[in-house]
Amino acid sequence: MATAGKVIQCKAAVAWEPNKPLVIEEIEVAPPQADEVRIKIVATAVCHTDLYHLFEGMPKDGFPAVLGHEAAGIVESVGPEVTEFQPGDKVIPLFLAQCKECRFCKSPKTNQCELAWTRIRQGAMVGKESRFTCKGKKVLQFAGTSTFSEYIVIHQIAVAKIDPAAPLDKVCLIGCGICTGYGAAVNTAKVEPGSTCAVFGLGAVGLAAVMGCKAAGAKRIIAVDLNPDKAEKAKVLGATDFVNPKDHNKPIHEVLAGMTNGGVDYSVECVGNVEVMRSALESCLPAWGVSVIVGWTEMFDIKIRPPHLISGRTWKGSMFGGFKGKDGVSEMVKAYLDKKLQLEEFITHNMTLDQINDAIELMKQGKWYHILVLFINQWVHFK
Ligand SMILES: NC(=O)c1ccc[n+]([C@@H]2O[C@H](COP(=O)([O-])OP(=O)(O)OC[C@H]3O[C@@H](n4cnc5c(N)ncnc54)[C@H](O)[C@@H]3O)[C@@H](O)[C@H]2O)c1
Ligand SMILES: [Zn+2]
Ligand SMILES: [Zn+2]
Repeated sequence: MATAGKVIQCKAAVAWEPNKPLVIEEIEVAPPQADEVRIKIVATAVCHTDLYHLFEGMPKDGFPAVLGHEAAGIVESVGPEVTEFQPGDKVIPLFLAQCKECRFCKSPKTNQCELAWTRIRQGAMVGKESRFTCKGKKVLQFAGTSTFSEYIVIHQIAVAKIDPAAPLDKVCLIGCGICTGYGAAVNTAKVEPGSTCAVFGLGAVGLAAVMGCKAAGAKRIIAVDLNPDKAEKAKVLGATDFVNPKDHNKPIHEVLAGMTNGGVDYSVECVGNVEVMRSALESCLPAWGVSVIVGWTEMFDIKIRPPHLISGRTWKGSMFGGFKGKDGVSEMVKAYLDKKLQLEEFITHNMTLDQINDAIELMKQGKWYHILVLFINQWVHFK
């Protein structure tokens, strides 16, 4: 490619400071170094974790940054030592790397690669390395990915090669929300056929958890959200009941216990609120209920009375749905191409990078939106 080995100037949405709109800027993206891949991003979606960094976590050392971590694209060029990828490959960047060499990658018990940015980050949700500059300043790569940019550079252990037949404007969702929610039900909770489940929070992650509970054979799936507009989509994806905590004057775990003869078998928290995490645990049957925390916050502690666990409940956490990065993404892309996974249902808007602040605003409002896909570059050429 004509751009290989050269600095690329392109558009990116830069978060200069917390709690402010993103600014579309011309940035410079350096060529990939050893073991790195430069990717032309074709489609990216917005996940609540991007909003968390910008409006909730707001770490002092986390700006300026380019947000975004749920995307698909095409390899533009590769650095020295890269053998797995070639220009033209369709790929999904991974916020959770899989080096395949470390003790964690070699264990079936975890997806937490020791080399992933999540382990080597500075404290903020940004890594130490970045190939971005803008107006003479280094711009950080959020979640190691930064997909609100036309081009990114990323380590090859954090890239999944996908089937060339995959439509990038759909499978981009597999880069975070879909794997996270679906896997939390299937891999982490290990939902059993005939069981009763509750999913708290019906953004893309929670809706994917509903889809995972259904795929695992759950008999009853109770979807819980403060926003009544989320009920319809949850039902399309497999929810059998919808409960709005605002409609009840007693704690939500008591409402669910009343509906389920004492509690659900599995609950999945997809909000990122420590009170909801506690409610999700308490909504489980005391004898054997399993509750999975998926929602993200680093700001508050969670509290629970010991008997709530001593009685027999299990409390678990799940990152990226327990999927190992590269393996999980290719498995889920295959499931989509085999028509075993719904993705279209999650897409409510197609927008451009220039509309990124509108996309963020829509997501903040919640309304009836579930996820927003932004088509950056000339994505139509790559479908
Ligand atoms: N663990 C991981 O690997 C991982 C990956 C991706 C996202 N996340 C986290 O998952 C969470 C969900 O992400 P998303 O993109 O689907 O978010 P979202 O903002 O689209 O959806 C959150 C939903 O929760 C609902 N909600 C808010 N307060 C509630 C309450 N008290 N009770 C019930 N529902 C409530 C909102 O109405 C909304 O529908 C976020 O915290 C995000 O950071 C975690
Ligand atoms: Zn995400
Ligand atoms: Zn590893």
